[in-house]
Amino acid sequence: MEAQPGRGRLITLEGPDGAGKTVVGQRLATALVARGRSVVLTREPGGTRLGERLRGLLLEDRGRIEPWADALLFNAARAELVAEILEPALAAGQVVVCARYTDSTLAYQGYGAGLSLDRLRSLAEIATGGLVPDRTVVLDIDPVQGLRRKAGSEQTRFEASFDLDFHRRVRAGFLALAAAEPDRVRVVDASRGVDSVYADVEAAALEVA
Ligand code: TYD
Repeated sequence: MEAQPGRGRLITLEGPDGAGKTVVGQRLATALVARGRSVVLTREPGGTRLGERLRGLLLEDRGRIEPWADALLFNAARAELVAEILEPALAAGQVVVCARYTDSTLAYQGYGAGLSLDRLRSLAEIATGGLVPDRTVVLDIDPVQGLRRKAGSEQTRFEASFDLDFHRRVRAGFLALAAAEPDRVRVVDASRGVDSVYADVEAAALEVA
């Protein structure tokens, strides 16, 4: 889909847990502001009042949740984020940097938990009204290294309750999604130091922003 003139850009950061989306997203937002762009930095799940409450419910460690309940709740937070934050910002010509989006549901609830990718895509289409990122950067990291990086900080339910095989499927899922859409999705090796990772992310983002 050709971008409309005057419309902003949506850049999403994806990848397994511990890949560094938060620090890279903050640096990217700062760099884009320095280049004169008007930037909104947000995240999923979250970004809105309801979304942050859903984030609390979804990520606190309370044992197993039915995967379709996960999928529906992540998409409920997403619908709210698209309507309240993303669409208005894009209409105003802003650049939105969002940590996680639809690809996370496909990777975690699809490749990880085994739900149908087609049905998850239909659900995301409803939640997003068909809003697709202009650029997605997958921060790729081996889950052993990613989870080790996050050891010590507070763990989400996904980090605490899902086994290594699950996280390996998630990683493979992100790579499969990237391979299927090379124009939209770029893969960056996130096993390196943050400066090298960030440089590649910025280059991928500046191609569209
Ligand atoms: P994340 O934002 O990566 O947490 P942190 O702030 O600790 O870095 O955590 C979000 C978690 O939710 C992550 O484990 C992936 C999971 N998730 C899904 O399973 N499906 C989704 O659709 C989304 C957006 C996240």
